[in-house]
Amino acid sequence: MSSPARSPAKAESAWLTSNDTPFLSDIETLRKRARNHIDQGPVTEGYGADVAVVVKLLNEALATEIICTLRYRRHYFMAKGIHAEAVAPEFLEHATEEQQHADQIAERIVQLGGEPNFSPEGLATRSHAEYVEGGSLIEMIKEDLVAERIAIESYLEMINYLEGKDPTTRRMLEEILAKEEEHADDLNSLLEGLQVK
Ligand SMILES: [Fe+2]
Ligand SMILES: [Fe+2]
Repeated sequence: MSSPARSPAKAESAWLTSNDTPFLSDIETLRKRARNHIDQGPVTEGYGADVAVVVKLLNEALATEIICTLRYRRHYFMAKGIHAEAVAPEFLEHATEEQQHADQIAERIVQLGGEPNFSPEGLATRSHAEYVEGGSLIEMIKEDLVAERIAIESYLEMINYLEGKDPTTRRMLEEILAKEEEHADDLNSLLEGLQVK
């Protein structure tokens, strides 16, 4: 069977009819570059960040999310007292959402050609936030709020670093950041409700 009359080269030229310098690299160049670095997955020459640095930063964020998941789960099971019924479900919800963040980050690390570090060895050191058990319900909420504020700060820094360099990772981190701000706000409301502020 003969091949279709439509020539790919002809189809491409339709993009480049203007005599002006094209704003984007021409399709042939883009395809050649993609073929040259096929083993690098979605990381192309147009990728503006240092991929090793991004993977390292993401692994620190992954450790932070794992630590936060563990801390919130501990708090969920240990919540006691007359307010525990209202607060414990909030801890569990946050734990689930931190786990989702960890999964999103791990997936992006793999897309970038890196390896997500799930090793328990050094986990607490890699994490930005701390694992604090907290005694009373109020202590738990306060520790969670501190951890959320640390996460917010570090995500803001990472988002700034990625500006104009890696829009996909940046967008993911912006979504996660919005959720961490929501978490901090929830905890703030819980503290206000318990009248300890
Ligand atoms: Fe998170
Ligand atoms: Fe959070």
